[in-house]
Amino acid sequence: MRISSDNIDTASVDAALGTTRAVRLRLDLEREVDQQTILDCIDIAEQAPTGGNQGSRRWLVIRDEALKARLAELYMDAAGRWMVDARNKLDGTGHPNERVMASAAHLAEHLAEVPVIVIPTIIGRHDNSGRPGLFDSVIQSAWSFAVALRARGLGTAWTTAVLNAEHEIAELLDIPDHMTQIAMLPVAWTKGTEFNTAPRYPARDITYVDGFGRIYDSGPSSPITMADGPGTIVETDIKAPLSRVWELVSDINMAAAFSEEFTGAEWADGHDGPAVGAKFLGSNTHEARDPWTVPCFINVYDPGRSFGWVTSDPDNPGARWRFELEPIAGSVRVRFILHLGPGRSGISEVIDARPDLEAKILHRRISEHRANMQRVIDGLASLV
Ligand SMILES: Cc1cc2nc3c(=O)[nH]c(=O)nc-3n(C[C@H](O)[C@H](O)[C@H](O)COP(=O)(O)O)c2cc1C
Repeated sequence: MRISSDNIDTASVDAALGTTRAVRLRLDLEREVDQQTILDCIDIAEQAPTGGNQGSRRWLVIRDEALKARLAELYMDAAGRWMVDARNKLDGTGHPNERVMASAAHLAEHLAEVPVIVIPTIIGRHDNSGRPGLFDSVIQSAWSFAVALRARGLGTAWTTAVLNAEHEIAELLDIPDHMTQIAMLPVAWTKGTEFNTAPRYPARDITYVDGFGRIYDSGPSSPITMADGPGTIVETDIKAPLSRVWELVSDINMAAAFSEEFTGAEWADGHDGPAVGAKFLGSNTHEARDPWTVPCFINVYDPGRSFGWVTSDPDNPGARWRFELEPIAGSVRVRFILHLGPGRSGISEVIDARPDLEAKILHRRISEHRANMQRVIDGLASLV
């Protein structure tokens, strides 16, 4: 079949890709799923790329009640009981994982009743070398399967917890030793057909151009300019309570202990602590110029989440700095973010002198900032 992109409805494709959720609570356990629908979705999924263009994927569709019951037992042993305990513990607490645990526990308790369970497998055993070539010849295909289901009104949840019991599953289903199981996908019609997109990072915050961690407010143009709002992000996961990490990132002097440029800060104009609008003076040194002090204004103060300030002029800042904290399992992910401009700063004078070198000057300056920002988050990690 040959299809022109003129005949692809982008909105529909994006809608399917953007709303293929992990469906657990809304799996319809009563409605039968016919085999042809599963096969249609596998035919679509098989169009996904595969290393060496070898068709090495094999799909197991489990419909037998006794087999599903045994898989459900294995799932319960592998992770289900833990999920049920976690749900019971988190129920009503408002904890960030409360909803996902309620959903995960529900699936664990009802897996045997799901009409169809699909296990994508691939010929070969991973050699644990970390080299790509095996999982990556099947995962994109299994995901296409999930999206194809979604487009038809069915749903699934990507689960891997039971793969701890891969030997038992292999024995149960006669899967040969040379095959690798990739996931276990419970498949059912969904109860209701509307699903939301999920909160995720905006692409601009996690998409780096021509070097890791290099971000732009807009564009970037080629070559890059100050008007692109060039900047950088460094990040690290710190094993510490959120409150402790917050206490440190919201201390305007913390970075001075680690940065080779920023030497310290003091509150100014009667301000004496962090709040939106509070002003402090930041002192800096750099081999290329005399030490200088820059007025800074806190523009983001969201305790436990986000702390940011802008330099020179709050309405037209020379630079914008921000810490963002995100609790992840057992740790806090710290992102330290800088954007230059849109207003003038020290670097503007350097560019004024050599406008033909603007891109180069910006690249170098961002690299310097990046190195210091890395020192700061490494230092932060060493403090907690
Ligand atoms: C590698 C991987 C393994 C997963 N394993 C399980 C699992 O064993 N059980 C489960 O209920 N969900 C599992 N999930 C689903 C995630 O919990 C799910 O993607 C998350 O809840 C977000 O849901 P959403 O995609 O609908 O936003 C897994 C997802 C991935 C990517």
